[in-house]
Amino acid sequence: MRSLIDILDLSTEEINDLVSTAADIIADPAAYAHKCDGKILATLFFEPSTRTRLSFESAMLSLGGKTLGFSEASSSSAAKGESVADTVRTVSCYSDIIAMRHPKEGAPLVAAAHSMVPVINAGDGGHNHPTQTLTDLLTIHSEKGRFNSLTVGFCGDLKFGRTVHSLINALSRYEDIKIVLISPDELKLPSYVKKDVLLRENIPYTQTTDLEAVMPELDILYMTRVQRERFFNEEDYLRLKDSYILTPEKLVNAKPDLSILHPLPRVNEISVAVDKDPRAAYFRQVRNGRFIRMALIMKLLGIN
Ligand code: NCD
Repeated sequence: MRSLIDILDLSTEEINDLVSTAADIIADPAAYAHKCDGKILATLFFEPSTRTRLSFESAMLSLGGKTLGFSEASSSSAAKGESVADTVRTVSCYSDIIAMRHPKEGAPLVAAAHSMVPVINAGDGGHNHPTQTLTDLLTIHSEKGRFNSLTVGFCGDLKFGRTVHSLINALSRYEDIKIVLISPDELKLPSYVKKDVLLRENIPYTQTTDLEAVMPELDILYMTRVQRERFFNEEDYLRLKDSYILTPEKLVNAKPDLSILHPLPRVNEISVAVDKDPRAAYFRQVRNGRFIRMALIMKLLGIN
């Protein structure tokens, strides 16, 4: 039985297979409409979500399966003090696969140890978010046609942004990747990610506070939201929340084939005027999330 807790639980070959299955599903969804007949996906969301939870549900329904779950901790027995281990032991009696989001780093790993069915990490605190990374990789592949030889800029909250941590891990496996880290000093990439990934894997990277200065170098600009819910005090959040706001003017010196990604939700960090720029890929990215999750559910259930 396989779970997906960290993006590196998957080999490069497995990621390539998932990306190509997703492309196949996009081309011929009808061929997949009954792949999961009779299967049940449980979504256990102890933290808010729109895209991740609904794309998981949409993915299972599109495969012919069914879904159940909760979308806030307050409506589950967690509110009565039940442990993650006991909740998951219970839900694994009712379902064939579980997608779980939790504010505590490591909670999905604990869940996987107590589950009788595969557990998918749908985001754990400020740590990891592997299925967003699969979505990002499918988007990079469909926008750029490759995973190698890319300069990828990450902008915004690199400290608490779990999607950033997982995507940097995934990119470390490819050739000729350069990473540009753009953030205020207070929201820099955690040193453990720098040490365990960038330094260990010898990935060239630069750090800056100035988005416009590095814009011309970038093949991909990955914008992120300042993660209000992870701050210890509101004052710091208010001071940092509008550190970067991407506008059409700031894109003047960008490459004509730049791809702008954002895991969403956006708050203020991309002006709506950017949405009509053909380089804005974030709504195409949303759509990809459903198809890559269809491919992942099939894989973890051992369905071809
Ligand atoms: C991200 C998350 O939950 O980490 N959203 C998502 O899953 N698409 C990013 C965010 O909340 O800012």
